[in-house]
This record gives sequence, structure tokens and C-alpha cells, in this order.
Amino acid sequence: MKTISLLFIISLFINGAVTESVTVNKGFSVTLHTNTVIQSNDVIEWRYGFKNEPLAKVDRGSISVFNGSDWTFSDKLKINSQTGDLTIIYDTFEVIGEYRLQITGEKTRKTFVLSGRGGYGGDVTSLSEMEGDDVYLSSGSTTDNYDVIRWRFQNSPLVDFYTKTKNISTHDERFRDRLELSFFGSLTITNLRTNDSGLYEVIVDSNSGTHTIHQSYTVTVSGYTGEVKPVSVPEGDSVTLHTEDQIQMHDLLDWTFGKKDLISGVSGGSYDTYIERFYGRLQVDDQTGSLTITNMTTEISGLYQLKIRNRQSGKSFKKRFMVTVRAQDRSSHVSSGGSCVGVLLVFVWSQII
Ligand SMILES: *[C@@H]1O[C@H](CO)[C@@H](O)[C@H](O)[C@H]1NC(C)=O
Ligand SMILES: *[C@@H]1O[C@H](CO)[C@@H](O)[C@H](O)[C@H]1NC(C)=O
Ligand SMILES: *[C@@H]1O[C@H](CO)[C@@H](O)[C@H](O)[C@H]1NC(C)=O
Ligand SMILES: *[C@@H]1O[C@H](CO)[C@@H](O)[C@H](O)[C@H]1NC(C)=O
Repeated sequence: MKTISLLFIISLFINGAVTESVTVNKGFSVTLHTNTVIQSNDVIEWRYGFKNEPLAKVDRGSISVFNGSDWTFSDKLKINSQTGDLTIIYDTFEVIGEYRLQITGEKTRKTFVLSGRGGYGGDVTSLSEMEGDDVYLSSGSTTDNYDVIRWRFQNSPLVDFYTKTKNISTHDERFRDRLELSFFGSLTITNLRTNDSGLYEVIVDSNSGTHTIHQSYTVTVSGYTGEVKPVSVPEGDSVTLHTEDQIQMHDLLDWTFGKKDLISGVSGGSYDTYIERFYGRLQVDDQTGSLTITNMTTEISGLYQLKIRNRQSGKSFKKRFMVTVRAQDRSSHVSSGGSCVGVLLVFVWSQII
């Protein structure tokens, strides 16, 4: 804050200009506002960097966008012909730096210093999710320089979040009780339905009104179309739920039992469960993601689900298994032939699944 005001004062002394600092998450866009009433014959000009190269211009309503030397700014700039506001997509470090605004000679001069933050969710903007899952959408804000975080769905207001008071105002009834907002307004939508698919946008105005950061996400929610594989296992035996897939290194694996998270981790890493009755009974295969459960009992029979998400593409898929437990036939313990059949059955099942 001190540095900013110091910069501000120095700038005022040097050239009567105003300097604003703007920090943007990777993958997000930022709009720098002129905050000036534009006259029809005004010339608005944006320039960049120490070379002061021209970026964009509105000359009596007519727009020119330049791409910078080396085409750094190709497809990254937009200028509003009415307001002169400049929108920049921050997807490479090359666009960080100083942006200078000049309106008709000396009428307005302003400098924005754009700096960037690493991407935390802003990079992947096309998300494919499964019914019943949650999706996390980053607001791009990690400071309280923003009062109101506005989320939109399919071009209509979805939810507004007031960062100071933590007030939440939901505009779309269908999302009631399914929205969670983080401290700085990132949005998690829980228990997704297929009709939640669509365009989500976040619009965040700075407290000072000098700039707006924004991002769009396309979310596609698909229903579970795969089969639910039936698995039957004698009580007390081990069972392996086979995925039939080769998973990629660093894929995210998530096994659930019923509605509970059972075990999750990154392939190649380690896995842990926080559910007491599963302690020491679970094993995940690193190559396939297959889950082995030892000492099956009726309490832990039911629906098991594996979700695999590729971190590069953001794509995910699921496998479901319905595990039933057969009571051990007491007589089979007596007859050795009986337990042979049991072993054979497990073998056959693991071939099928
Ligand atoms: C900037 O690039 C766009 C395409 O990305 C092109 O249409 C436009 O003519 C370029 N502008 C200049 C001044 O070269
Ligand atoms: C926050 O919400 C409460 C109740 O929902 C309301 O009474 C209050 O006025 C709100 N505060 C602000 C600052 O919007
Ligand atoms: C979306 O689908 C759910 C069921 O999955 C249904 O209850 C809800 O009414 C649907 N909402 C809209 C707006 O169509
Ligand atoms: C299997 O689970 C049952 C019930 O939880 C328990 O009583 C038994 O000791 C377990 N057996 C083994 C070998 O862990």
C-alpha cells in the first residue's frame, strides 16, 4: 500500500499522471478503465512498456488494435470504442508491465502497472464434470481489493458475494444450497446436475473502480453412462475392483464409498483413508487405480466409485462397482471342496471385472 501511494505521489510530481497497480491471475482477463467521459472527437491511445509502443487507439469512434513488436499482443487486446477501456488477456508473462493511457493530448494521462500471479485454476476454463460431483471455479481474487464478486450463469446473475461482510446473494433458485464461496469469492458448485452445464463468468471490480478482472468457464456436466459392475465376494475375503485402464502418471484418483470420500491421491504418490473402518484394509494399484479391499464385510458392501481426472486436460471419467457380500457358508469351512469353489468364484469375478 505504501509503495503504491509513494508511486502515486512521485507520478503526480513528475508528469501529473496517476499510477495504478493491478495484479492478475494467469489465465484471467483484466479491463483497465479510462474513467473519463469520452467526447466524440477525443483520441484515446494506449501504449506499452519502455519503448512506449502503441497498442490500441480510438480515434473519433474508429478503432485500431496493434499487436506490439514480435506480435506479443496478438489476440490479447480489446478496446471499447465507447469508453476507451482496454481489455488484456493475461496468459503469458510478456504482457505484464506498464500500460499508459493518453486521451487527446494532455487531457488525461494514466499509467497501469500490470503484474501477474501464477495460475490457480484460471488456466483450465473448459471443465468436464460428472453428475453428482463438485466443480471449483476460481474468482482470481486473493486480496480484499475487491468488494463484490459477481458470478453469472448463461448471461444471467447467479450469485453476488460481498467480501467484506461475507454476504451472499443468490439470484438463481436452482443453485440454492449448492453454492459454496471461499474467502475471496471462488465458487464451488456441489452435486452437479447435467442441466448445470453452460457458461459461468466471474466479474470482479476493484474497490477503486480503476479496473475489472474477469474470467469465463465452460462447464459440461455429463451423466454416468457406464455400467455399474456387480461384484460379489464371500464375507471375510479380499476383493479387487479392477479399472481395466492404464492411468497416467499424476492423474488424480478418487475412490468413494456411497457418498463418502474413501481414498484419494495422485497416481505415483501415496494414498490414505480417513474412514476408520477402512484403516489398513485398502490398497490402490499405481498402474491401474484398481482398489483392493481386504476382509469384506456387509457393512462395507455397496456402491464404490472411482473418479480419474487428468490434470492437463481437466477431463475426468468414472467407474462404478456394486459390491455385495455373501455370507460364508459355514459348511464350506469343513469341506475343502467348498473353499476351492469360493476361491474359483473370486478368480472368475476378477476376470469379468
Ligand atoms: C493484429 O493481429 C490481428 C490478428 O491477430 C490482425 O487481424 C491485425 O491486422 C493485426 N494488426 C496489425 C496492426 O498488424
Ligand atoms: C447482509 O445480509 C443480511 C441478511 O441477509 C442483511 O440484513 C444485511 O443488510 C446485509 N448486509 C449488507 C452489507 O448487504
Ligand atoms: C435440472 O435437473 C434436475 C434433475 O436432475 C431437476 O430437478 C431440475 O428441475 C432441472 N432444472 C432445470 C432448470 O431444468
Ligand atoms: C474382519 O472384520 C471383522 C469385522 O470387522 C473383524 O471382526 C475381524 O477380526 C476381521 N478379520 C481380519 C482377519 O482382519
